Amino acid sequence: MTTTEPQVHRGLAGVVADTTAISHVDPDRNVLLYRGYPAQELARRRTFLETAHLLWTGELPDAPQLADLEKQERSLRGIDPALGSLLTAMPAGCHPMDVLRTAVSWIGAGDPAAADASPQANQDRALRLLAALPTVVALDQRRRWGQEPIAPRDDLGYSANFFHMVFGSVPEDEVVAAFEVSMVLYAEHSFNASTFTARVVTSTLSDLYSAVVAGIGALKGPLHGGANEAVMDQFAEIGDPDRVDEWIDGLLADGRKVMGFGHRVYKRGDSRVPALHEQLRRIVALRHGNDLLAHYEVLAGAMLREKGLRPNLDYPAGPLYHLMGFDTPMFTPLFVMSRISGWTAHIIEQLSANSLIRPLAAYRGEQFRDLPAD
Ligand code: ACO
Repeated sequence: MTTTEPQVHRGLAGVVADTTAISHVDPDRNVLLYRGYPAQELARRRTFLETAHLLWTGELPDAPQLADLEKQERSLRGIDPALGSLLTAMPAGCHPMDVLRTAVSWIGAGDPAAADASPQANQDRALRLLAALPTVVALDQRRRWGQEPIAPRDDLGYSANFFHMVFGSVPEDEVVAAFEVSMVLYAEHSFNASTFTARVVTSTLSDLYSAVVAGIGALKGPLHGGANEAVMDQFAEIGDPDRVDEWIDGLLADGRKVMGFGHRVYKRGDSRVPALHEQLRRIVALRHGNDLLAHYEVLAGAMLREKGLRPNLDYPAGPLYHLMGFDTPMFTPLFVMSRISGWTAHIIEQLSANSLIRPLAAYRGEQFRDLPAD
């Protein structure tokens, strides 16, 4: 029997799986567009909530729409005390992404209309998650410090309120603004691994919460969102910046990768990095982070020289979140707080023209054989 060998695209590299109108990565022009607008420009001139509205609806909100969105977001920040108790009882040593995954699952279990998949119902759910996840992340960060949760304040904007819930105070305007920029830049990136995962789950006509839980699972890995944590672990592992070259050589000899560098789509640098790097420099000046910045620049220089690889967004995000005062394992949950907007936009888009996502595999196992005699 002769069969034509199918062409295999390992890791789906280069495969165009569907169309999308949500975002476009153009590696040749080194640009990322959200619904046509450059993400870097949005990060400089618009808020995260405006960006979420843009991703969900296709347009930036006008003034009344924005006022309404801000009002709703502020009203949806609280979490059920039963959820708070559940999260507080989770194992102290578990990863914060496990806590977040559990929280979304619990919230979904309590939605009596979870099966209503109309675009408006899903957009309402998306806003509810966007508003509640910072409260979950703040609770988890504080319980790891042995501290009681702090209730949200509805007189503060999204990012300022988050700092209030984590640290009990609102930091300098520059810190709040830098965090907001990170939220805009992390919001959406086309068919990345976690978004594609959410679309696969949605394509079976499962519910939004299940798709988001799956997205959280995919984002946790260090080849994806988990890289922002790994970046800080690397600086600790290297110790002295004078050891960078020796450390890289050892790592590459072991077949390991340097976290925060390289990208499946961008091969000449990640278009989002300059805007976040600018924020990092500001916070370095404010929080006396010169030693960390020096370390950061030595490693980036060595990676370009030795491997021709440039940083991805997780590279500046790691030190930025560290200087803001978050524990390293909390960094990927901060990514989720933002990417919930992109995931849910894709879930809505997937349902608008659904086709079950079910690829083929090239079989490499045993050919037909008879069962041994009994
Ligand atoms: N460190 C060392 N070498 C690397 C790195 C890296 N970070 N990234 C790529 N390379 C090398 C590979 O070893 C490979 O070399 P080879 O051809 O000699 O075998 C070559 O560059 C191509 O790499 P691939 O892994 O095939 O590229 P791919 O497109 O599959 O990987 C990925 C992209 C997974 C992001 C990769 O660059 C990586 O692992 N980076 C580190 C993890 C990371 O920072 N992830 C965050 C991604 S961005 C985000 O989620 C916001």
